[in-house]
Amino acid sequence: MRVVTIIPTYNEIESLPLTVERLRRAVPHSDVLVVDDNSPDGTGGLADTLASADPQIHVLHRTGKAGLGAAYIAGFTWGLDAGYDVLVEMDADGSHRPEQLQSLLDKVADADLVIGSRWVPGGSVVNWPRRRKLLSRAGSTYSRLMLGINVRDITAGYRAFRRETLEKVELTTVDSVGYGFQVDMTFRVATLGLKIVEVPITFVEREFGASKMSGGIVLEAIANVTKWGLAARWRAMTSRSKA
Ligand code: GDD
Ligand code: MN
Repeated sequence: MRVVTIIPTYNEIESLPLTVERLRRAVPHSDVLVVDDNSPDGTGGLADTLASADPQIHVLHRTGKAGLGAAYIAGFTWGLDAGYDVLVEMDADGSHRPEQLQSLLDKVADADLVIGSRWVPGGSVVNWPRRRKLLSRAGSTYSRLMLGINVRDITAGYRAFRRETLEKVELTTVDSVGYGFQVDMTFRVATLGLKIVEVPITFVEREFGASKMSGGIVLEAIANVTKWGLAARWRAMTSRSKA
């Protein structure tokens, strides 16, 4: 099973080397792809230095900050072209502990998508302010109700996809820019009738740098979830009345 772990970066110069080192140690068979959006702090150059010392590390340079979703689409496309069997999503800031990656990989043989979940029994969040926890839980609950999918941590960013899953999702039509991308992918995988499994993780808030979460990202996600949810209901209603 060939695995690549994709790490999107925007200004993660302090965190990235620590995360990559932990990942290489915890799961040595996984290759690494850093997708950098031309970070002003020089993260891209640092990633090149890491790659020049380790043939299992690769870097994709993009021209500017275009959002998490766009970075992952580019990373997935690269990974599929390169022939990997499993494509992993991981934040650069250490929140997704590389030491827990194997527990995701253990499940991917018998699931189409494995989600490292904060909101299932055994999962948790360390060092998040109350409002951030509330936002995440409320976002997951709203998305779950609106979209009718039974996933506890819909916005989670720690995931393992089988390549066949990504091949079935039409990546070119995914246009979510921010973290709503994660909801978008979950919804698409669920709509295809594929199997999603959640495994508990401990999400640890970053020590260095700053979150790129913003009001705009939250609004985009709420607007999209509402739109997708209503469209799905409309489709269900009109197909019933035709029958
Ligand atoms: N290339 C690129 N371009 N990377 C980005 C961009 C972008 O526009 N925006 C964010 N990133 C990278 C960050 O550098 C980091 O590695 C990762 O995406 C996550 O960003 P954070 O800013 O640390 O996210 P967070 O901690 O606030 O949010 C976490 O929770 C979200 C909601 O549950 C993450 O786990 C998200 O993945 C998750 O959706
Ligand atoms: Mn983070």
